[in-house]
Order: sequence, then C-alpha cells, then structure tokens
Amino acid sequence: MQTVNDISALRSFVNEQKRQGKTIGFVPTMGNLHKGHITLIKEARKQTDIVVSSIFVNPTQFGEGEDFDSYPRTLESDSTQLAEAGCHLLFAPSTNAMYPAESSQWATVHISNITTRHCGAARAGHFDGVSTVVCKLFNLVTPDIAFFGKKDFQQLAVIRRMVEALCFNIQIVGVETVRETNGLAMSSRNGYLSEIEKQVAAILYQQLKNTRQHIISGNNDYATLAKQAQQALVNAGFNPEYFNICQADTLEPATVNDHSLVILAAAKLGKARLIDNIDFDK
Ligand code: PAF
Repeated sequence: MQTVNDISALRSFVNEQKRQGKTIGFVPTMGNLHKGHITLIKEARKQTDIVVSSIFVNPTQFGEGEDFDSYPRTLESDSTQLAEAGCHLLFAPSTNAMYPAESSQWATVHISNITTRHCGAARAGHFDGVSTVVCKLFNLVTPDIAFFGKKDFQQLAVIRRMVEALCFNIQIVGVETVRETNGLAMSSRNGYLSEIEKQVAAILYQQLKNTRQHIISGNNDYATLAKQAQQALVNAGFNPEYFNICQADTLEPATVNDHSLVILAAAKLGKARLIDNIDFDK
C-alpha cells in the first residue's frame, strides 16, 4: 500500500489507474479503524479494482465542546490494518491541505431538510462539515464507487442526497453495521467506554430490535413505543438524545402507512455518545 499526504500525489495515482482502465473504490474515514472500516475496504475490494482510503479527522464536523482534540489518532496501526485488508492507497492529508487558510471559508456544502432532525438537531453544523469534506474528497479521489457504513444512517442519507443534488457520477454503497458479539455497533467512540459500560451499551441495540418487533407485530403507536424505549434506556443508565421511528428514505417521522422504516437512536453513556439504528420493512 502506498501512502500519500499531498493532493498532487493522490491525483497522479488516480490518473494513472484510470489511464489503465481501472475502477476506483473509495472508503473515507477519520482513522482509529475497527472491523467496521475493514469490512468497507473488503467490500470495496470486491466491487472495484483499486481501493483508496482516506484518514482525516475533519475539524469542521466537530462542534464546540465535542471530542475533536481527544479523537484517537492511530495512523500507524490504521495503515497496517488497511494494508492487510488490501487497500492500495492511503490518502492522509494535513488540515492545511484540505482547508488551505485562504480558501477554507469560501464554500460550505449544505444539504437541506434531511440534515435538520436527529443528529442534525443535536450537532449544529455537523452535517455541513461532513458534506463539505466528503465533497472535497470526492473531487480529489473521483471514485467510481464510495462505501459508507450504515451505522451512520443519517450521514449515508445525506451523502446520497449530495451526490444526487450535485450530480456526482459516483455510486454510493451502504454497508451493514458490524457488531460486537453482544450487539454493540462497532465505533471508534466505543474506546471511551469502560468494560462494564460496553456490556450496558448493547442495550441500545436491544431496544431498537425490541421496538422493531413491536412494530412488525402490528403496534402502530410509534410515539408510545419511542417513549417506552427511551425510558428503558434511562433505566439502564443512558442519557438518551433521541429515539425516532422514521420513514427510511426521507428520515421524516413515520406514519402508519409507511412500510420502509428506520429507527434512529442516539444516547450518551458515560463519556461516549453512541448512535445506532435498525432499518426494516413492516
Ligand atoms: O464517517 C466518518 O468517519 C466521517 O464522517 C467521514 C465520512 C469520513 C467524513 O469525515
């Protein structure tokens, strides 16, 4: 695996691969890689000839008081894992390369509507930061296919909208969430949990599955189901941020007539803010 830090080296690599007729798969990350990221790389290997991954802890998607400074930076072990998984090129730019001082304020990509609820409500400006950096990365890597984990369900929906709205010629693939044996969705932020909290954290997914079961069995009282799940989370020691039963495409509140649903949840446990979701047809 090659590693490049600057934009011109990335572009030369990509141009050469395209000249040879190779397809490019892209897996953007913020590093501190776990099995979920490696699954994305392996999926990219299956579907494309050349796999490019990026590691960039993007400052613009962190709000004030969030964990930008303490976000784990583990470039060495990340590179080893990427190489072992068959990634061909790692792009690890500096902040200055991605946001040159003179141009960093010139443009922000804002995707409307789908960004207002859920994580968008709790983390002002977060999705602007995500869509701006992913837009830049797409323009740099110019992949044929880009791969995102379904754990960040709203992020995936935002990226799909951005691709459609801004006419990117890139296919977006959402990859199933990878879980610990107890059901906890893998996340770089799980490192903030103690061993006991990791056991408790699995209750978030249990509540998602439990609520899905009620809905599939015919319970359409979504407001009450969401309230009960939030209460169960509080009882288990979580501080829930939201537990929303939504229409799977628009992420608007689900009505009884919607069949394609997703339940989105976020909750704080100890020092970690956990998010998870479950999508299903009823
Ligand atoms: O999901 C992430 O790790 C980040 O939000 C992404 C897509 C790499 C953009 O910084």
